Amino acid sequence: MSKPKVFVSRIIAEKALENLSTVANLEVWQDELPPPYEVLIEKVRDVEGLLSLLTDRVDATLMNAAPKLKVISNLAVGYDNIDIPEATKRGIPVGNTPEVLTETTADLAFALIMAAARRIVEADIFTRKGLWKTWGPGLMMGQDIHHATLGIIGLGRIGKEIAQRARGFDMKVIYYSRTQAPAEIEKELGLTRASTLDELLVKADFISINVPLNENTRYLIGERELDIMKSTAVLVNTSRGPVVNQKALYDALKSGKIFAAGLDVTEVEPIPSNDPLLTLDNVVILPHIGSGSIATREKMALMAADNIIAGLRGESLPNCVNPEVHKK
Ligand code: DGY
Repeated sequence: MSKPKVFVSRIIAEKALENLSTVANLEVWQDELPPPYEVLIEKVRDVEGLLSLLTDRVDATLMNAAPKLKVISNLAVGYDNIDIPEATKRGIPVGNTPEVLTETTADLAFALIMAAARRIVEADIFTRKGLWKTWGPGLMMGQDIHHATLGIIGLGRIGKEIAQRARGFDMKVIYYSRTQAPAEIEKELGLTRASTLDELLVKADFISINVPLNENTRYLIGERELDIMKSTAVLVNTSRGPVVNQKALYDALKSGKIFAAGLDVTEVEPIPSNDPLLTLDNVVILPHIGSGSIATREKMALMAADNIIAGLRGESLPNCVNPEVHKK
């Protein structure tokens, strides 16, 4: 019997490709850039498995073009690039890669907190440009991290790990989440729940965004929210760009309404080279590398491969975002 076909939309860790090739005939997209949407549609016509990335739009049209599709596995914890209700309607399980990237992403969120607060990138550029003339009492002054108040929006796995790191800096940590964390977690991490998002925004010195992107969180942070933050506040986003209204953020950073921002994600990715945000010194912008450690990316790839393998066998995916399909 011939092996089922699987399309992998970018080169991923070799070990994961090896595992996949034991059960499937693979086509792996070799380019550095993702396959254009129209090309992806052609590629999935006769596949049973699709290993996608967050740069691939997997919608109803694409699924209609892939009548044999049995499983979609996204190499990410987030899956806002996939139309989950459409997949569910067709009985297609969708896998993701939670947990293995939690700590790596929390590390990066903390790196952004520190870089934005202490102007690390700006100071490095300043030094390289030969602008450092002498030690100065007012040179490149930033904000203290220790003993400051960190506000975490969305207390999921990554939010909790950021809270854990904040303890090492003696920070006070508040969070805003629809559901209250269990008392023992609040106690263990020294957390206090803000009763409203506004309360968190008003009180926090550092604000870390850790919610998934969906219709409730799109533009969660806009002009009004930036307006009520402290003028010394630092905003950090490691979730998805469209959670923040980037135009409003530009205005707030430019006018000094808030002190700085650290972004691992932007509204459009990659951020266009003429985006006004890139003209500002008080924002650090990274190319969506939150989970980008060598070890974590390999774990994610292996996990994504395991999801495909289970799906091809008709088994429950080890990490499934629409497990209801397995109950049908
Ligand atoms: C995710 O997993 O959703 C990240 O954004 C990329 O690792």
